Amino acid sequence: TPLPYSTAKELSDSGVATAAFPFNYIACKPPAAAAEVDDEASDEAQIPSIDFSLLSSRNPDNRAQIVRELGRACEEWGFFTVSNHGVPVELQKAMMDACAGFFDLTAEEKQDYMGRHVLDPIRFGTSFNSKVDDVQYWRDFLKVFQHPVFHYPTKPAIFREVLEGYSRHIRQLGKDLLNAIWESLGLEENDMQEALSLKSCFQILVANFYPPCPKPELALGLPAHSDHGLVTVLMQNGTDGLQVMHNGKWLGVKPLPNSFLVNIGDHMEIVTNGRYKSVLHRAKVNNKSTRISVVTVLGPSLDAVVVPAPILVERQKHSAAFRGIKYRDFMEHQQSNKLMGKSVLDLLRL
Ligand code: SIN
Ligand code: FE2
Repeated sequence: TPLPYSTAKELSDSGVATAAFPFNYIACKPPAAAAEVDDEASDEAQIPSIDFSLLSSRNPDNRAQIVRELGRACEEWGFFTVSNHGVPVELQKAMMDACAGFFDLTAEEKQDYMGRHVLDPIRFGTSFNSKVDDVQYWRDFLKVFQHPVFHYPTKPAIFREVLEGYSRHIRQLGKDLLNAIWESLGLEENDMQEALSLKSCFQILVANFYPPCPKPELALGLPAHSDHGLVTVLMQNGTDGLQVMHNGKWLGVKPLPNSFLVNIGDHMEIVTNGRYKSVLHRAKVNNKSTRISVVTVLGPSLDAVVVPAPILVERQKHSAAFRGIKYRDFMEHQQSNKLMGKSVLDLLRL
């Protein structure tokens, strides 16, 4: 049976989009027609870097210093890179290879996971939400729930083992970063564990596949959006494409080998009552090489209703800026509609 729609990979492989670029993928104005293309990223982001090994330093002054730097990065950028994180480089490579292997499966093999509900623990698809997107994005994806229940696609066969190891490492890294973030805000780790039910924290892995696009200036891999969780940990192959919004400008992010890119998600913005804000980012595409990004979102428990931490609200001397809804409902809402900036978070603003 033919697929209801083509994936980005099929379009790229078949070359049909080279002959006539499909109009439903046009997300950007043709640059020639728009002298006012002022939102093109021309500059590179100077994203703050965090040496993770200093967080476990025996010298309390070193830790205090890096916690302050982390706090500043969260406040000023909402993005930082993490080096010396201890996740084995072989495991990073195995993860990249396993994801590439998945997207290389035949359309029929991947179709088993296609068209599923947004809260299905394993879901393959194209664009963001191809049924509701009025512009199709040049991207295929695989989303797999990793925690509190571990799921894995059965192909490629290596996936299970690699995912188990990778997700365990990233969850630990994420939790250590969260603890440092609480510390940077003067919050008690135990209080936060409880308020967010972090023991059963939600962890999802999203593999993004952006094949070469014959008209990269017209298409987008993903539109501007923020992430739903507390923090997102991103690994990417060596290909450019990610852009972040900083001080009202789009800036390009250069992939750094063997380091992760971490960004603040909507639930961190909620719990910090807006002090650490989720940041808009988007994915551009190119006409030369496939870009793969492997994204881990770490959030509270899906059953948690997150509200601004009372102690922060008290200290900030202004009232709570967000109302809370169940994380599961927040995520379902974001995932079943068009992806538009921070639209779901905006609904919760008081
Ligand atoms: C994402 O925002 O989920 C993906 C970003 C990327 O591909 O770098
Ligand atoms: Fe994202």
